[in-house]
Amino acid sequence: MVAPGPSTEQLDEILQTAMRTPDHGKLSPWRFITVDDGQRADFASLLKKAFLAANPDARATQTEGAIAIAHMAPAMAILIHSPQPSAKIPEWEQELSCGATGMNMLHAAHAMGFVGGWITGWAAFDETVRSALCQPQEKIAGFFYFGSAGIDITERPRPDAADKISEFPADL
Ligand SMILES: Cc1cc2nc3c(=O)[nH]c(=O)nc-3n(C[C@H](O)[C@H](O)[C@H](O)COP(=O)(O)O)c2cc1C
Repeated sequence: MVAPGPSTEQLDEILQTAMRTPDHGKLSPWRFITVDDGQRADFASLLKKAFLAANPDARATQTEGAIAIAHMAPAMAILIHSPQPSAKIPEWEQELSCGATGMNMLHAAHAMGFVGGWITGWAAFDETVRSALCQPQEKIAGFFYFGSAGIDITERPRPDAADKISEFPADL
């Protein structure tokens, strides 16, 4: 993923588009953290602290690899699952809404002519990282990267539709 990436205004448009997501109960159980160019080093510092706390014997090259996600791609944002108290809407539905928001982020980026990527990796599940960025009830849903394609994008194997689509069972 190479430059150009979305400008600050274009990234804001991507996030505002992503917010138009299915959301049972209008709870908006998600939020975004933007990480601009000037904040990448702080993100890297947080990742380094977290990685070394979990892997005190890590070699320098391992640590560098672990924190590389702080410097990937021209633009990035973090999607946070932020469940809201509700007697009616189970958290599962709120997680689905957050996942739909993530897909919307990628669709919005692609619609604007950029490419996007959604990763989790160790940092999304690390408690040091989570607690620095999230409230106690929240979780990191993913790190999102935006830019332009530096190489021709090749297709990957896709599931066979016949394995994934079936008719309603007749023998109930
Ligand atoms: C919740 C979630 C987490 C993901 N985490 C990673 C990851 O950590 N590393 C990775 O290579 N792909 C990850 N992926 C997969 C990529 O987003 C993407 O699907 C993959 O690179 C293939 O791209 P494509 O689906 O556009 O073909 C994740 C996807 C989801 C939905």
